[in-house]
Amino acid sequence: MTEVAEPRWIGKSRAMFETMLGEVPEAMRPVFRQKLMSVIMQKANSGDVTDAHVNAVVQEIVPEPFKSTILKKFKELGDFDINIIDEIIRKRGTTQDGLMSILHDIQDEIGYLPIEALRAVSSKCNIPLSTVYNIVTFYKTFKLKKPGQHTIKICNGTACALKDKAGIRTEVENRFKHSLAVDIEKTLCLGCCDCAPAIEIDGVVYTGDNVRTKIETLL
Ligand code: FES
Repeated sequence: MTEVAEPRWIGKSRAMFETMLGEVPEAMRPVFRQKLMSVIMQKANSGDVTDAHVNAVVQEIVPEPFKSTILKKFKELGDFDINIIDEIIRKRGTTQDGLMSILHDIQDEIGYLPIEALRAVSSKCNIPLSTVYNIVTFYKTFKLKKPGQHTIKICNGTACALKDKAGIRTEVENRFKHSLAVDIEKTLCLGCCDCAPAIEIDGVVYTGDNVRTKIETLL
């Protein structure tokens, strides 16, 4: 089969294309990549491919329930530019040896690792998505969730555990554990054992009643 040349992707069209391709079983993806790209380019009259072109192809040729799944995922696409990933892969290469560096670079650029970015890496480097996913879930350094506006680090050290009679650490954790705007982490001693319990909020350590005063400003 003659290889179809990559079109110029505009907006989120590339990410949408990779999303669509992500619904195809991995073993069949290389063949489908070429076929779907060819259909999309026809839709775009061999010009620049836009979000509307990809969306139209999904609407016209993808059967249910895949169509609904893909259209739902389009709505969830992050705001990252897929060209960033192309550039990183160009620099790092497509072998599995470079995978960790690619993932670190993407996280540095985007701030986290969106699932669509992982799909793009998988298909461009020809590495199974399961392998990529295993790596990013194994290493704590990788973030799969978009960072919130605030970061709270709850001290899990012995002094804080012993002195937290009022349960402020649990209270803060419960209050924000489902918040998209606040990231909660457990951490080791924050170095303020004499004032324990201590909680770090956006890089500043708060103790005692100051914790409650501060968290009210995050709501
Ligand atoms: S144990 Fe929490 S600040 Fe030291």
